[in-house]
Amino acid sequence: MIVTDKIDEVRQHRWADPSLTWGFVPTMGYLHAGHLSLVQLSLAGNERTAVSIYVNPTQFAPTEDLSSYPRNLEGDLAMLEKAGVDLVFTPSDALMYPPGFQTTVSLSQVTQPLEGSSRPSHFTGVATIVAKLFNIVQPTRAYFGQKDAQQTIVLRQMVRDLNFNVEMVIGPTSREPDGLAMSSRNALLSAENRAAAPVLYRALSAARAAYEAGERSGELLRETMRGMITAVPQAKIDYVSAADPRTLEELDKVEEGVLLSTAVFFGKTRLIDNILIYASENTE
Ligand code: PAJ
Repeated sequence: MIVTDKIDEVRQHRWADPSLTWGFVPTMGYLHAGHLSLVQLSLAGNERTAVSIYVNPTQFAPTEDLSSYPRNLEGDLAMLEKAGVDLVFTPSDALMYPPGFQTTVSLSQVTQPLEGSSRPSHFTGVATIVAKLFNIVQPTRAYFGQKDAQQTIVLRQMVRDLNFNVEMVIGPTSREPDGLAMSSRNALLSAENRAAAPVLYRALSAARAAYEAGERSGELLRETMRGMITAVPQAKIDYVSAADPRTLEELDKVEEGVLLSTAVFFGKTRLIDNILIYASENTE
């Protein structure tokens, strides 16, 4: 496995044989089974797989958890080597944002609600770094998790708008046995908050059950989630949402599918989760 922090080296390997397909999984490291499920999809669907590990400072607001974001490069590399990854790109801040850096990628609409309203600069940071990584790696396919539902919508839109020549693949959310979505941030939870955190998935599942029983009022679906989460004293709701899966506007009435999503604080740690329901089928 090649591990490099140099752009030239990535390009040299990527283009050594232009006939090979490359899958790419961008990450911020502290890898868990959710990241590895995306790596497995890439390994299965491409001749070569590249992973990036980079905690991107521009997607964190000054008040957020950049300095406490968990890191374990050695452990990450061991996991990726064992999985059979071909190349890992581990750039430095100085390489990604050299002095004089001044270009950003920002989207005007799908970035506004939900995560965007709580974290106003977040998606400009995400879109900018992913655009840079796509230009460096130039993958055939790129893999993202449904866990970050709005991120997948934002990045698909960016790929369409800016004509990136990459096929976007979205993998399902990997969960702990108690339903908690896997996240690098779960490591930051106290034992008490960890025990309370599965309420996100319980609340989303209750709203899905209500939908499946015929409930089509967006407000009642939101109320179902709100009621369950507020019953847990450790949980502080940032938002609950039942939104149009394409525009992310809150729905009064569900007609063609719904993205149920929530963001909840446990102490200083903010967790997100979602369930995507299409009118005809049901995926997460
Ligand atoms: P990070 O949070 O490290 O996540 C990397 C990828 O793993 C993302 O596509 C995310 O959606 C996916 N992922 C995280 N938890 C998952 C789970 N439980 N099941 C399935 N997939 C999961 O998302 C980012 O990093 C950054 O924003 C990034 C895209 C790398 C840009 O900096």
